[in-house]
Amino acid sequence: MTINQKLVETLEWYQEIGIDVAVGEVPCNHAAPLRCAPAKTSAPPSPSPLAPTLASPVKLSDCKTLEDLHRAIAAFEGCPLKKTATNLVFADGNPKAKVMLVGEAPGADEDRQGKPFVGVSGQLLDRMLATIGLDRTSVYITNILPWRPPGNRQPTPQEITACKPFVEKHIALIQPQILVLVGGVAMKTLFNTNDGIMRLRGTWQPYTSPELKEPIKAIATYHPSFLLRSPGQKAQSWQDMLMIKKALEAAGLS
Ligand code: URA
Repeated sequence: MTINQKLVETLEWYQEIGIDVAVGEVPCNHAAPLRCAPAKTSAPPSPSPLAPTLASPVKLSDCKTLEDLHRAIAAFEGCPLKKTATNLVFADGNPKAKVMLVGEAPGADEDRQGKPFVGVSGQLLDRMLATIGLDRTSVYITNILPWRPPGNRQPTPQEITACKPFVEKHIALIQPQILVLVGGVAMKTLFNTNDGIMRLRGTWQPYTSPELKEPIKAIATYHPSFLLRSPGQKAQSWQDMLMIKKALEAAGLS
């Protein structure tokens, strides 16, 4: 096998396992491996999230509208994911909706189109919402992270901490009556908990943040990409959807 064939085979394998962006901790010329910068031996630096007000020329406290918030995120340089993403994925749906959903982070399709939940897991999410009479005209959707982590890897705690003030502001600007946290990352981030999604899903919790005067009624549910891998859990998601429907009916919102 020639070296070129080997390289092609390696790239194909990377693509198969989901590595589609080449980003390392240390700059490295792969054509001359011996000249790579030496690997760091010291402990990695502790998380040092940049406060959005410091790292963005647009102050978060000055954001009075969704357009202001969009501008603040677009100008933010405190999250390295911005450099590898194709698009900023801000939101989709109706900004006047009473139900707001928060997912984890854009995937490849969302990154390409600049809209949340448009890929396979988004299609399942749409079907789940449709079972209780909701669609993108009656919900508003965003994510914890506005940029795609390369290769759909898990967001790091630093990335989440850096972007959390934006999602808190986003929720405060929408002021939904019901907040649905889609998946473990959204749940842990916004409920400030280390509890697992299996334990907390399907229970109403008050969501609070420094941006809110009053708590918002919130519920966590399984992420549709988890349901695609574990369809046996769909029955529990159905229970969660019914709880949302009942809450909307009780509040006279359906
Ligand atoms: N998964 C998410 O959590 N959000 C998206 O927008 C797409 C997939």
